[in-house]
Amino acid sequence: MKFFVDTADVDAIRELAELGMADGVTTNPSLILKSGRDILEVTREICGIVEGPVSAEVVATAAPKMIEEGRKLAQIAPNIAVKVPLTWDGLKACKTLTGEGHMVNVTLCFSAAQAILAAKAGATFVSPFVGRLDDINLDGMDLIADIRAIYDNYGFETQILAASIRSVNHVTEAAKIGADVVTAPPGVLKQMAAHPLTDKGLATFLADWEKTGQKIL
Ligand code: E4P
Repeated sequence: MKFFVDTADVDAIRELAELGMADGVTTNPSLILKSGRDILEVTREICGIVEGPVSAEVVATAAPKMIEEGRKLAQIAPNIAVKVPLTWDGLKACKTLTGEGHMVNVTLCFSAAQAILAAKAGATFVSPFVGRLDDINLDGMDLIADIRAIYDNYGFETQILAASIRSVNHVTEAAKIGADVVTAPPGVLKQMAAHPLTDKGLATFLADWEKTGQKIL
């Protein structure tokens, strides 16, 4: 399973990349806003930190302008994945941009039907938003499972990029289902290391070690 980091915070990306925990990065207009930085500048910096795909999102809503924006974003670096919304125009842009050899991430996917269209349009990635479905009392993980089953039925090569990940459980559930990639905020990825029994066990070991009076260094 690949880990993408869902942020435009370069320090957080760098820390995870140094540990081999950042196979790619996803950004969106809200994350660019949060970074307080220029989209082209920050995206270029991110592309220099990670070798894998870095998603940068178009903001036009009509296909011709999305395609123009996508071409401009793709010029930033060879590892850019142009992110387009899962609308009819987004699918047109996806088809054109993948035809030109660019990676495309079709985002804001909320149904299996939409995911089928993304695959048919040649998307490199489809991003089903788990957390936002949970927010409206649906089960986001059911969508990941449905898309996995459908893509496997037909051998679609589009990678399932589980997005809107809000918890460690989301990551493990997506992994169990077989999502190709999970994109999660840095805090969630770091939280995966935490377990109360680890903390408790470590405290006991350290207390006992203290009693031995020994030193390793
Ligand atoms: C995915 O690419 C999006 O950037 C992201 O996962 C959205 O997450 P949110 O629903 O927590 O904003």
